[in-house]
Amino acid sequence: MGFINRNEPFDRAEFTFFVPTQIKYGIGKVAALGMELQVEDDLASCNNVMIVTDKGVLAAGLVDKVKAGLVDSVYEIKAIFDEVPPDSDLRIVAKCAKEINDLGINLIIAIGGGSVMDTAKLASLIGTHGGEVRDYEGGFMVPGKCIPIVAIPTTVGTGSEVSVGAVVKDHETKTKITIASPHLYPRIAMLDPEMVATLPAKLVAYTGMDALTHAIEAYVSTENQPISEALAFRAAEMIYDNLEIAVKDPSNLDARAKLQIASMLAGMAFSNAPVGATHAISHTIGGLYGLHHGLSNAVALPYVMEFNLESSPSRYAALARAFNVTQTGLSDLELGKLAIERVRNLKVALGIPERYRDLDVPSNQETIDKVTEIALMDICMAFNPRKAEFAEFQPLVQQVI
Ligand SMILES: NC(=O)c1ccc[n+]([C@@H]2O[C@H](COP(=O)([O-])OP(=O)(O)OC[C@H]3O[C@@H](n4cnc5c(N)ncnc54)[C@H](O)[C@@H]3O)[C@@H](O)[C@H]2O)c1
Ligand SMILES: [Fe+2]
Repeated sequence: MGFINRNEPFDRAEFTFFVPTQIKYGIGKVAALGMELQVEDDLASCNNVMIVTDKGVLAAGLVDKVKAGLVDSVYEIKAIFDEVPPDSDLRIVAKCAKEINDLGINLIIAIGGGSVMDTAKLASLIGTHGGEVRDYEGGFMVPGKCIPIVAIPTTVGTGSEVSVGAVVKDHETKTKITIASPHLYPRIAMLDPEMVATLPAKLVAYTGMDALTHAIEAYVSTENQPISEALAFRAAEMIYDNLEIAVKDPSNLDARAKLQIASMLAGMAFSNAPVGATHAISHTIGGLYGLHHGLSNAVALPYVMEFNLESSPSRYAALARAFNVTQTGLSDLELGKLAIERVRNLKVALGIPERYRDLDVPSNQETIDKVTEIALMDICMAFNPRKAEFAEFQPLVQQVI
């Protein structure tokens, strides 16, 4: 339907778009994993395999599917590392990296959501280049190639299977650490809708809202450019059209498949046009209070859209079109407000609480100040379309808490 945005002057003198990950999609595709890997010249001889996963994914029977897909192939599973906790943990990454070295692993298969895929990325990094995660914090700090990763996503949110980064929690300091590098892209992303069929409705809602946040924040990112824009817009449309259906009807594999594809599109978009203030706040809340990443994004998203609206009204107006707003004769600001209203309504339909205080986050002044301070230091703030200092940002945090 409709149009993306008007024929505005092109405001980028130059841009780069980079996603090196090969994407293989198919219902039941995992059953042919061995064959799919073997046909890749560079992976044919990488046959000392470690599977990285977590206990929930293991219990859902998803590791068994992958094991079956490797039977009669050249790939030998030397270890299954299933200790990844939600948001992962610096010590777990170190432990996984040590096992990688001890066993001479040369191929990692990550089966899980963002926590698993990011642990695999960072364990591959430390297993290859040594040191500890903190040594590589920030952007472009990874010195070279790492052990290749085959990422098999089992949630519909992070896009980590095609993304430039990894996020991990330091449970001692209660902070989240972001590492971004072209060397952290997985070698292959295998998208098989059967791998998300077991995802509980609540996690479909949370992770789907994470993907929607990626799409919206990439679309309005200071780094947005025509390729990321096309990916982000299509992702926003697909998520809006399918998220509520997928949450309310767990048997609808079509809706889940579309969410899986959309979250991947959004991952490619934000790897080139990074996310903004919603993620800065959500990383802070996740670090301090352990809320699921997608849930904490979902709570903050409409508030941040409102905060940003006047900085890029035509972009939010275009998003209204992605959310099936068909009215004509409205100004960009009016359309942008309708886009925000649609996101708020979706949040309600998915049963997501209005504010963090509804999720037991303290709402006192001390918390508001602390969250404001930490969020403003998050790397994502650099890409938010509206720049803000403490005095301007604090009222936003106050609203969302
Ligand atoms: N690297 C990136 O680009 C990026 C982007 C966004 C978020 N993240 C990070 O990803 C993490 C969150 O990842 P997530 O939202 O995918 O959740 P998750 O990986 O933490 O998984 C959540 C829970 O879902 C369970 N689960 C996963 N798939 C399942 C399935 N198919 N069936 C049954 N249970 C299943 C897991 O066992 C786990 O208990 C956060 O740490 C966040 O910061 C990374
Ligand atoms: Fe995210």
